[in-house]
Amino acid sequence: SQSEHKKFGGVIPELASRSHLQILQKITKNNLLDAKIGLKDIDIFCATCGPGLIGALLVGSTFVKSLSIGVKKPFVPINHLEGHLLSPTYNNKVNFPYLCFLLTGGHTQIYIVNSINDYTLLGETLDDAIGEAFDKIAKLIGLKYPGGPEIEKKAKNGNILKFKLPTPLEKNKSLNFSFSGIKTAVNLIVKKEKKISNQFVEDISASFQNKVAEILEKKLIFALNEIKKRNINISQIALVGGVAANNYISDNLKKIANDYECSIILPPNYMLGDNAAMIGWACLLKSKKNIKSDIFFKPDPR
Ligand code: KG4
Ligand code: ZN
Repeated sequence: SQSEHKKFGGVIPELASRSHLQILQKITKNNLLDAKIGLKDIDIFCATCGPGLIGALLVGSTFVKSLSIGVKKPFVPINHLEGHLLSPTYNNKVNFPYLCFLLTGGHTQIYIVNSINDYTLLGETLDDAIGEAFDKIAKLIGLKYPGGPEIEKKAKNGNILKFKLPTPLEKNKSLNFSFSGIKTAVNLIVKKEKKISNQFVEDISASFQNKVAEILEKKLIFALNEIKKRNINISQIALVGGVAANNYISDNLKKIANDYECSIILPPNYMLGDNAAMIGWACLLKSKKNIKSDIFFKPDPR
């Protein structure tokens, strides 16, 4: 959401970490003032330590480690994906295990969340992440970054049947994803179009978004069948990450969930895309039994 990236159509790592560095001290001070507490009132410090851009991870974790050393309190490293996976527990009464679709700009994965600290990965993307596909296609048709919300808006007035896009891994019954072929197909369609009209943008947005929803619906059915085969009882399907904000996608998945007598759960809107609150929440959940302080933890981009 940093404005410095808008004109590039994607995140420039060096600019991201520099602007984090510039703003962190200011927002920390303001947040403490707003909350009417001082640093000494904080019992546990945590920061995202990966996966992600190493520059940004270093800035955030070094800053927070320094605070924790300063007031002699524990520092807990948190995994970014775990923050997403546990985010629906903030506002829902969850029944473990739950199925979780993690749909972000960097990852597309399906997990069983067995309990806090215990996750089973069922499948993931073999190439582009789902949000990345939205962003790249938005760029191809002249929409701004991040592309997901822009495509969702344009798709509202578009025709989902106007463009026939491929279904990658169509015959593959695994829980893995592939999105790069759809991006190539859209690229070819865009190149053939002489003038990119608003109607064209609306139709290609609708056709693309519908294809993505169709793929997720299929994978949800495969996942539910797989879970049944493993004799696991599931009643909730969580959608997390920036792309879970897409109403067209979540509405379509809700229909499938209904058929399987499951409900769709989501974190609050402000915890869908990347945010610090879900990292703090994951830290609280993980620290309930014992606090694993690790001031020497090295941030890891992978
Ligand atoms: O979870 P997130 O904020 O960051 C990562 O961990 O990557 O997800 C960002 C991604 C971006 O690719 C963005 O285009 C996408 O989420 N996104 C959406 C929507 N809102 C955000 N994609 C589709 N529809 C949306 N409404
Ligand atoms: Zn994220």
